[in-house]
Amino acid sequence: MAPRTILYTGKGGVGKTSVAAATARRCAAAGLRTVVLSTDPAHSLSAALELDVGADPTPAGERLWAQEVSAQEELERNWASVQGWLGRALVERGVDRISAEELTVPPGLDELFSLLQVKRHHEGDEFDVVVVDCAPTGETLRLLSFPDVARWWLEKVAPQQGPLLAAARPLARAVLDVTLPGEEVLDDVQRLVRNLIAMNEILRDQERVSVRLVMTPDRMVIDEARRTFTYLNLYGYLTDAVVVNRVFPPEVGDYFDGWRERQQEALLDVQAAFAPVPVLCAPYFGEEVVGAGMLDRLGGALLDGTPPAAVLHDRVGERLELREEGARLRIELPFASKGDISLKKHGPELIVRVDDVKRTMILPPAMDTLQPAGASFEDGVLHVDFAHETSDA
Ligand SMILES: Nc1ncnc2c1ncn2[C@@H]1O[C@H](COP(=O)(O)OP(=O)(O)OP(=O)(O)O)[C@@H](O)[C@H]1O
Ligand SMILES: [Mg+2]
Repeated sequence: MAPRTILYTGKGGVGKTSVAAATARRCAAAGLRTVVLSTDPAHSLSAALELDVGADPTPAGERLWAQEVSAQEELERNWASVQGWLGRALVERGVDRISAEELTVPPGLDELFSLLQVKRHHEGDEFDVVVVDCAPTGETLRLLSFPDVARWWLEKVAPQQGPLLAAARPLARAVLDVTLPGEEVLDDVQRLVRNLIAMNEILRDQERVSVRLVMTPDRMVIDEARRTFTYLNLYGYLTDAVVVNRVFPPEVGDYFDGWRERQQEALLDVQAAFAPVPVLCAPYFGEEVVGAGMLDRLGGALLDGTPPAAVLHDRVGERLELREEGARLRIELPFASKGDISLKKHGPELIVRVDDVKRTMILPPAMDTLQPAGASFEDGVLHVDFAHETSDA
């Protein structure tokens, strides 16, 4: 059976690495073979676990392994030929060598290759649980939404590209003064596209895979987590819990009274914004979360009484389908009844109101040119259709 996979993401410094390592330790203690892997190029699993963690799964306790994926190694394995070709092509066009080198690796790509390790663990049967400590922004998860485009490319463009390029090669050299990519480059791109599609399917397996958003009880951090949440929902990734870390406990005393009050308000906001997704909380400890003892304190606070590998929530309430012409959004609004609908789109923001229930969501850039064209509400589900703006000019 494919391993249970939990991906932790959230803004920088909120506690992703600590929470991921703590969860992994609890899973291992519950008898599950567990690997915790970090795809963040700035690794800190070694520090949290007080252990020298390697690029392959490194023993980290009974039934526990840790892995700090080497972005560089993955990049070389998966992208070397594309990088070589693109680098040469850019240098030929007069771009200096250093800039050319940087331009050959689109931002986020290295982390994407690191994430392919998740696919590897899904294909093997070494582990019952895979816990992933993702890079800060959740940027990678956005990149994974790209397979819809990738699939199209694979079906429509790729089959014709080989012969087309073969025919164009001499002409390109003579007339345009560019070198077209060779077979091995196209093979690498195709492999990447296939891997992305496979990764996407793994991550959308809602029975085994879920994302958890880590945040601290601070407004800006919560807002960013909400944006990521919308994104994950729209693309059909399950968020089964949100984690609020570093909540001041009552023991901190009067000096922090004002701060504690604001945190309590923020906690209520979190509950309202993410409901019905469960909220797990951990206190601000008096020391850093480093080493087995502190990690287990954190794990205990977060997952007290909860089976550590359980899927804590099993529904994605919002769904976005991109179609050839436009898009369709499906939103579950179980509390609405009459079905008086109003829709407003301001830039990337969509404000949906059904009866007295209001939802604000941030739509992906791919939908910039689309406008709501119609909506229907039935059995607690709202469908919104989007179409391209038609200009009569
Ligand atoms: N509940 C907590 N109480 C006290 N300290 C904590 C708590 N959670 C995390 N920390 C500490 O806060 C710091 C940041 O935590 P961590 O490295 O887990 O965050 P991160 O989200 O992975 O950061 P980055 O985005 O840099 O990878 C660490 O020093 C960690 O030990
Ligand atoms: Mg980290």
